[in-house]
Amino acid sequence: MMQKLQSILTEAKEKIALVQNQNELNETRAFYMGKKSPLGEILKQMGSLSIEEKKTLGSYANQVKQEIEACATAKRKEIEKLETLKRLEKERIDISLPGKDFKVGNKHPLTQVIEEVEDIFIGMGYNIAEGPEVEEDVYNFEMLNVPKGHPARDMQDSFYITENLLVRTQTSPVQVRTMLKAHGEPIKILCPGKTYRRDDDDATHSHQFMQFEGLVVDKHITMSDLKGTLSLFAQKMFGENRSVRFRPSYFPFTEPSVEVDVSCFKCGGKGCPLCKQNGWIEVLGAGMVHPNVLRGAGYDPEVYRGFAFGIGIERVTMLRYGVDDIRNFYINDKRFIKQFKGE
Ligand code: PHE
Repeated sequence: MMQKLQSILTEAKEKIALVQNQNELNETRAFYMGKKSPLGEILKQMGSLSIEEKKTLGSYANQVKQEIEACATAKRKEIEKLETLKRLEKERIDISLPGKDFKVGNKHPLTQVIEEVEDIFIGMGYNIAEGPEVEEDVYNFEMLNVPKGHPARDMQDSFYITENLLVRTQTSPVQVRTMLKAHGEPIKILCPGKTYRRDDDDATHSHQFMQFEGLVVDKHITMSDLKGTLSLFAQKMFGENRSVRFRPSYFPFTEPSVEVDVSCFKCGGKGCPLCKQNGWIEVLGAGMVHPNVLRGAGYDPEVYRGFAFGIGIERVTMLRYGVDDIRNFYINDKRFIKQFKGE
């Protein structure tokens, strides 16, 4: 019987050495350790033996069992190690391959110009203000000195939602809203925003565009403050050597009103196709806040004065970068946008 046990041990060791994976190992181990194993069969026949023999045989059988178990455990570890190696080999990353092309976008040219202009005016102590795009007739027109039936409405009348509600035709209503909120205190704001207007749809105009509204209200504001402010803006935006020129104009909410030209930044004022040979380029409208507007918003025009200006954001951007069609800003063509990537 001892011999039989011995040969079972040898055989089990050989079989375990041959298994290839965990499944086979489990099966082989179960075969040698289970109730119906060859070992078990031998133990069943022990009945006829003497107590001494039983003891020796029993303890040897246990030893055999332990050895088979140890052998299976060692094999299990070996298989696990191999499997890990195989997995690592499979999951290996080839770091010599080129990475995926990572596309970095850039800010829209209009956004870039808005931020730049905001910085210029923040540098002069302005606050950035906001107003709604859907505006009431009172703010968009009436409190800006444009009563119903006023001929100046003709240039802008458009896009009504109800009789007294429209998408704003200019950012100027923010002047009124700001003054009403400030309750007679001095004001210095810049407001960028979308505006909508029935406009000639040509290459430089669109029914939807953007403006900057500027408003300064205080006790001693004069037209030279306006000129100084806009000169500095023109120099920062279009180059150190730029100067500005005021031409008389008309806006119902400013008096006097001016159109503001900047000396041509391409030819320096000599005359070229960009400035249509006259050396100046028109960039914005401005003026001294009309006494009616001040009064209506709670400021005594005998004490307070102010200036206001309106800059077309698309216009400035088109001039600055030589863009010839305003629609380029809105059609989201990546070939256009990515030209404004900067450094
Ligand atoms: N709101 C005017 C426009 O849209 C521009 C402007 C603003 C003129 C402020 C004077 C003062 O044309």
